Amino acid sequence: MITIKNVLCNQLVKRCSFALRSSEIRFLFMLFTMIVTLTLVTVVHAVIHVQSPSDPVLRTSFTIDDNELEFGNIPKALRFDCHPEDGASQLSCTNRGCCWDPMDDVNDSGNLYALDAPVCYYPENWPSYEFINSTIEGKDFSGFLTRKVKSFYNNDIPIIKMETTTLSHSILRVKIHDPQSPRYEPPWPVKSNWKISNVKDSSPKYIFQTDSSRPGFAIKRAADNNTIFDAIGKGGFIFSDQFLQISSLLPSHNVYGLGEHRTRLKLNTNWNSFTMFNKDQPPTERVNLYSSHPFYIVIEESGDCHGVLFLNSNAMDIILQPAPAITFRTIGGIFDFYFFMGPTPADVLRQYAEVVGKPFFPPYWSLGFHLCQLGYGSVSKTREVWNRTRNARIPFDTQWNDIDYMENRNDFTYDKKNFKDLPQFVDEIHLAGMHYIPMIDAGIAAAEKAGTYLPYDEGLRDDVFVKDAETNQPFIGKVWNPIATVWPDFTHPKSAMYYFRMLKTMHDMFAFDGLWIDMNEPSNFLNGKVNGCTYNKFDYPQYVPHVVDRLLATKTLCMNAKHHLDSHYNLHNTYGTGQAIVSNLAMKKIRMKRPFIISRATWEGAGHYAGHWTGDVYSSWHDLRMSIPEVLAYSLFQVPMVGADICGFDGNTSVPLCNRWVQLGAFYPFARNHNSDDTIVQDPVAMGALVVKSARKALLIRYRFLPYLYTLFFKAHKFGDTVARPLFVEFTNDKNTYNIDKQFLWGKSLMIIPVLEENKVEVTAYIPPGPWYDFYTKAFISSTGKNFTLKAPLDTIPLMIRGGSILPGQTPNVTTTLSRKNKFELLVALDYKGLATGELYWDDGDSLDSLEKQQFRWLNFTVKGQKLRNREVEKGNFSQHMILGRVSVMGVSRKVHRVFLNDNSSIPFTYDISRLYLNVKGLYVDLKRKFTLSWAFEE
Ligand code: NOJ
Repeated sequence: MITIKNVLCNQLVKRCSFALRSSEIRFLFMLFTMIVTLTLVTVVHAVIHVQSPSDPVLRTSFTIDDNELEFGNIPKALRFDCHPEDGASQLSCTNRGCCWDPMDDVNDSGNLYALDAPVCYYPENWPSYEFINSTIEGKDFSGFLTRKVKSFYNNDIPIIKMETTTLSHSILRVKIHDPQSPRYEPPWPVKSNWKISNVKDSSPKYIFQTDSSRPGFAIKRAADNNTIFDAIGKGGFIFSDQFLQISSLLPSHNVYGLGEHRTRLKLNTNWNSFTMFNKDQPPTERVNLYSSHPFYIVIEESGDCHGVLFLNSNAMDIILQPAPAITFRTIGGIFDFYFFMGPTPADVLRQYAEVVGKPFFPPYWSLGFHLCQLGYGSVSKTREVWNRTRNARIPFDTQWNDIDYMENRNDFTYDKKNFKDLPQFVDEIHLAGMHYIPMIDAGIAAAEKAGTYLPYDEGLRDDVFVKDAETNQPFIGKVWNPIATVWPDFTHPKSAMYYFRMLKTMHDMFAFDGLWIDMNEPSNFLNGKVNGCTYNKFDYPQYVPHVVDRLLATKTLCMNAKHHLDSHYNLHNTYGTGQAIVSNLAMKKIRMKRPFIISRATWEGAGHYAGHWTGDVYSSWHDLRMSIPEVLAYSLFQVPMVGADICGFDGNTSVPLCNRWVQLGAFYPFARNHNSDDTIVQDPVAMGALVVKSARKALLIRYRFLPYLYTLFFKAHKFGDTVARPLFVEFTNDKNTYNIDKQFLWGKSLMIIPVLEENKVEVTAYIPPGPWYDFYTKAFISSTGKNFTLKAPLDTIPLMIRGGSILPGQTPNVTTTLSRKNKFELLVALDYKGLATGELYWDDGDSLDSLEKQQFRWLNFTVKGQKLRNREVEKGNFSQHMILGRVSVMGVSRKVHRVFLNDNSSIPFTYDISRLYLNVKGLYVDLKRKFTLSWAFEE
């Protein structure tokens, strides 16, 4: 407990400076370094798009006299924590050369970690490293820094190198590393995939700056000189073996990203810590969850936007504080930053996708509705649910099984008793034009009798399991399998082949279509091994980020476990992505069609290989509500295929909750109902008439607009665009949208406004400025950017269509296979000027090489001057039928007299003057050819 209160800052100064002055060695060392530095520094202060900041006065924190108050007089919001470990005291703080200011409002528990302004904080320009030289070659900077003063963490790296790589005029990489001894860098995303664009002719959108006497760097936006990242001399810059820290000021409080966490979409900068360490952890506020995405975007005060990726896979804390400022505190690797200059959010995301990889292109069927539960227990039970859902005529494409289909819960097997008919059942599913997905856990059973379980025997033979550092034998823990579990090492060169063989053997038994990979944080029911982990530098590092229980091995492997590439300590956060990669490769090879993989643990770039579901959410209204920011955050991380378990996973759902959840879930990019085995059965039919009605209604709308959704996924795959889209991405100039995360968009055109509270049949939603149309009534709203109250009867989810849009659709049926045989439609929503645009991407929905072989049609539609036309965006040769059967137009403000197809024949239509709605049905127009549909008004 803190007992000393209200120590003044000038007194603090003395303490801080005394502590340092008393250290003769430190002082001498520093003096020496200063002299050397002053001699050596010709001029560092780097710059790309070179700009030298005026040479700053070399500040020495060690020569402060009693009158200099500035030293400790730092406003609370700007105080960077100098003692993030437990047990800070005045002595331990001042020994670090930091300032001690115990505050009155330290929380009652005495826990200094409930984040607030730190009691122990860095003085300005706390000395750590300074430049000894630098050069600029072409557009890129490199410089060496030497350590001035030892940090209080073991093994400071004495000399570090800072270098930049101009990846494009919008993307800058800043890498700070140990030039003498290479340190760990994550194997994924694969850097050799980058196409470094030729930036000779264009001037970068950023300005990079350093300062000779202080560590860190700053980035400015070239266009307006706005500083977007300023880490020069902020907080405590430390680069030691197991503690790396850098702090920067942020240009605004509009910060998004930093997953996977349960937070609002716009992050709270009022002292918040985001710990990144993949953990089997049901989504809860303030803890580390299944995945790690150290990427954020900021909307600056000007409305311009930038993004920052910190490509470091070690356990870390990222802290936001109200300056606003950010601190990255990681326990390994290097500093590897990527700056994406935007300037729009969509630009930032496209640039970020260039580095982490663009999302995989999903098969069309995967856009349908999926159904699962843990513990069906048999094929007959699974079939019963499958059948009753189909009999209720609920749109439905994919049946799943959880671990209960396996023999002894062991991967690559199936239970020959209760699931003996699985192969036939899967064939039946296929005959119905539907698909089947089983689960694969990360862990492999390790205690079956030798010769009875090939996945273990062959894994041993190929030496592909993660190893115990002490025994050099496979690391043994325990998950669902009987007795013991080992884990494939996905960094091992033989692991991809091993996985392929295992999956192929299983596929030969029953022809599954996709994979659900689970427990791949990796999760372990033990904390390390049966007796825990030995005392070693990886499991007990000097600093432990704020992971649950403050023990890294909690419910996972010991950190000193060995992978082919490196320690588990370094690779932990990438493990699930490694599994996604080998699964993706294997599925491609086995099915020769597009792989569909859903993974629980993800890391940067995972979306290139797999989608994600949000894990074990609770069946509660709160979890329903919080699923939206999580889905939207994943859109930012380039994992657009994402959804939460519809109706909730843990705990019993209820009819009112499940009813509203199935409506919202119908608009998750990944729409699956799944729950635990100890909760009530919650497939729509089991929940009764209201849920069935809502499911049918909402899913029929989803299926109707699957061509639109598919086009969005295509654009995600091609460019890195979002599918489920936060409002701020479309309406960046409207600050009212920055905080909105109870409603969202599909692409630019469809706004989804779910009911998130019990007993409500209305919902208040923000409608951004512009023309909008109620999807159901066609009612026109001309918004100036304000709240509207919309009717939401129990079976209905409010939906708004944005004026200026054309949404491609298709008459829906109960499977995507059947829907794809139907005619297309175009739903047009005119803007104030009578204009609208839209796009349709179409192909066979499952081939691996549709794009490479140009087996697609990519069309653009426009309405101008009462004329709807189509044009090819890019030449494609897909030759199957694409027949347009209907065009409906909202916002036709004058009475329509006649409608023409291709300027000659007048065709039948209806026009509803009260709703300003033109409807042209019964068309038979080949979308692959140019056409014009126009309407004329009554004179
Ligand atoms: C944990 C997953 O999050 C959950 O969805 C699944 O049902 C269980 N594992 C059992 O496999």
